[in-house]
Amino acid sequence: MRDVVGLATGSGSSDRPIGPGHTALLDPSVPAPPLVDFHYDAAIVGLGYVGLPTALTFHTNGFRVAGVDISQPRLAAIRAGEVDALASDNVRLAKALCDEDGFTLTDDLAIVSTAEAVLVCVPTPIDEHLLPDLTALRAACQSVVRLAQPGQVLMLTSTTYVGCTHDLLVRPLEERGLRVGRDVFVAFAPERIDPGNADFAQYDVPRVVGGVTPTCTQRATATLRGCSVELYQVRDARTAEMTKLYENTFRAVNISLANEFADISTTLGLDITEVIDAAATKPFGFMPFYPGAGIGGHCIPCDPHYLLWQLRAARVSAPLIETAMTSVALRPGRVTRRAIDLLGRRGLPVEDARVLVLGVAYKPGVADVRESPALEIMRRLATAGARVSFADDRVSTVDIPGHTVEKVTDPQDRTWDLVVVQCVHPQSDLDWLRRQPTVLDATYRLADLPGRELP
Ligand SMILES: NC(=O)c1ccc[n+]([C@@H]2O[C@H](COP(=O)([O-])OP(=O)(O)OC[C@H]3O[C@@H](n4cnc5c(N)ncnc54)[C@H](O)[C@@H]3O)[C@@H](O)[C@H]2O)c1
Repeated sequence: MRDVVGLATGSGSSDRPIGPGHTALLDPSVPAPPLVDFHYDAAIVGLGYVGLPTALTFHTNGFRVAGVDISQPRLAAIRAGEVDALASDNVRLAKALCDEDGFTLTDDLAIVSTAEAVLVCVPTPIDEHLLPDLTALRAACQSVVRLAQPGQVLMLTSTTYVGCTHDLLVRPLEERGLRVGRDVFVAFAPERIDPGNADFAQYDVPRVVGGVTPTCTQRATATLRGCSVELYQVRDARTAEMTKLYENTFRAVNISLANEFADISTTLGLDITEVIDAAATKPFGFMPFYPGAGIGGHCIPCDPHYLLWQLRAARVSAPLIETAMTSVALRPGRVTRRAIDLLGRRGLPVEDARVLVLGVAYKPGVADVRESPALEIMRRLATAGARVSFADDRVSTVDIPGHTVEKVTDPQDRTWDLVVVQCVHPQSDLDWLRRQPTVLDATYRLADLPGRELP
């Protein structure tokens, strides 16, 4: 077993302060766990947008890593080096794939019993009723608990409700006869990765960690030094769970406010982007958020619902968050109505109108369409009878139940009845939009486009 505390790491110093939260001290009343010679330093369960970069960061920092995923297609894509990831992660992946002993990929969860630390990074989506879908997290935790070994550090990193670490790890571990804080060490350490954003490497972003006991925090911190330069310890796992929910609810509420200000600005004949950029010159007390066609991705449209769901059980209301999330959910419908309205103004019925949705990923720079507002806009337009196509350099297909929506690679060679711009990837050539009769700019970023329309 390698000494993680003294780890010499990449870009920053591992000696940076742990953060002002709490000083974790070894609890002398807790006997040392039995010495087990684990083969791997860390096992990452779930190798998606979060888990794969996490595995690569640990590996880059000298950890022996086991990556586990139940999806064969995902494992095949990783092995082939064909993943939607930052260029820097693809370089690290190529190196890791050459390190047979230090970087193992498998669909066999049994491997987690051979790792000193286990990090669970599986999806925590919402269902069609906007309720938490804990299927993947429950399944992963059940396996981790069943396979847990004395001395292991077990961490949840998937975003979830407050108390989930206790419900899915602590209680079942204790039912198995393993004392948390003595036999095994359990913590919640939320992930802050921003896929597609090369400005903030995962390693350079401070990481919050809260253990079930002080020793759990200490042990989890030692592990996490392998994937983050700065650890911020909080009182316990529940505080860490709530921290993540606050971060993402903060974003959701503020994006919802930006959308509302965008609508007000359009009514008043003002350019919202200019307004936000001007406000952002204030060096304190303001943080810019930008409007759009809605909110997509696996985090912001989902995570606040984990909080609202648990608050409903406690009969606690959170009207501000409820309103923001309702507004977020209604946004793609508003964009669609505006699209149909614009067609109508030109005397074009939506039935058989040729509509292009440009950019269907949920944000620039990624191929991820989960919860993308584009999906709902395309579904609604197709349901209304439009002939809908899409263009997106990073996305090859979309699944719109009940409809066939084709990808076009040459959108610039046609004249569309309407182009709805939902997302613009970096380095996109948009000059051809100037030749289109009607462009609905749901990104609010195409200020120079003559005759653009806003939602
Ligand atoms: N994507 C983001 O931007 C982001 C950022 C911060 C936090 N998060 C959180 O991180 C978590 C993971 O998100 P993601 O975007 O990486 O999800 P993802 O869907 O990209 O990847 C999850 C992976 O887990 C695998 N998986 C599912 N069940 C499994 C199981 N029982 N055992 C092993 N593997 C299993 C899936 O096959 C998939 O490859 C979520 O809770 C999310 O809210 C995501």
